[in-house]
Amino acid sequence: MLNTQLAKKDLLGIKDLSAQEIISILDRADFWAQRFKEDPKLPEKPLEGKFISNLFFEPSTRTRFSFELAAKRLGAEVLNFYPRSSSTQKGETIYDTLKTLEAMGVNTAVIRHSEEGFLENLSSKLNISIVNAGTGTTEHPSQALLDLLTMRQEFGEGLGSFPSGLKVAIIGDIVHSRVASSNIQALEKLGAELYISGPDIFMLDGETHPHLKVVSVDEAVSEADIVMMLRVQKERHSKIDSSIDFALSTDGQVMTDTEYPKSYGLSVERAKLMKPQAKIMHPGPFNRGVEIDASLVESDKSLIYKQVENGVFTRMAILEGVQA
Ligand code: CP
Repeated sequence: MLNTQLAKKDLLGIKDLSAQEIISILDRADFWAQRFKEDPKLPEKPLEGKFISNLFFEPSTRTRFSFELAAKRLGAEVLNFYPRSSSTQKGETIYDTLKTLEAMGVNTAVIRHSEEGFLENLSSKLNISIVNAGTGTTEHPSQALLDLLTMRQEFGEGLGSFPSGLKVAIIGDIVHSRVASSNIQALEKLGAELYISGPDIFMLDGETHPHLKVVSVDEAVSEADIVMMLRVQKERHSKIDSSIDFALSTDGQVMTDTEYPKSYGLSVERAKLMKPQAKIMHPGPFNRGVEIDASLVESDKSLIYKQVENGVFTRMAILEGVQA
């Protein structure tokens, strides 16, 4: 099985990947998933002698831990950087921090940051490989890739391919979601049919995204093979648009966490509209009882923990792919 074939030293976003590169990452991730089943000790250590640093300037559980697990399973050493106890507190820039890590011999920096386009500005000035672990509201490439792997395992024919014409509905706070943005970009490249739904203020502009079908939640749930629910990302609202500071308002009406589930959440009743083979996904973290009924998270229809499992294998493929 060939290693991941990436053209660049960095993975900054889905926007930079060809369909062929995406498939190559999925294939390699699948290879690691199979090897792990055969032997969880994974005796192959292709990244032995490499050093990977995780720099998270925003909170994370899944992404940070799975990049760390992925690196360790591949034999790399992991250096965790904590902004609050670092010299960024003394005014050092992130560029100078990365230049310092590069001089020490760190091979890869896995970075999460709130600012749009932040990594693009750094990438050309550094030799260290940069992997985007979530930036701004447009890119979370490793999440989208693990989501694609999970969809392919459920509906696909396996290596070298992606299920043709897969119908994917993304429901919730689309406009503030880097997961939605990366998934939409990736799924378009692979020929999926895309539906979006949720409160009007959370929808993307139809003129700039003419390929997306904006539909009611019930229609999205009934049509889709994959129903991907998203959390309302309150922490990003005030930073981007203070007029929607109260997060769940539509047409000037404030919608509370109790009202949201009825209008836009995936309830047990609404899930009955799903096609028999359709599945539920959610990138996490989720708010049980708000965008998704608590009982659906671990139901037979849910792929949520499969997504988490696949996150480690996908990040193994990514970390291999960005090594010189
Ligand atoms: N899905 C996701 O990015 O989760 P974390 O914020 O926990 O990393």
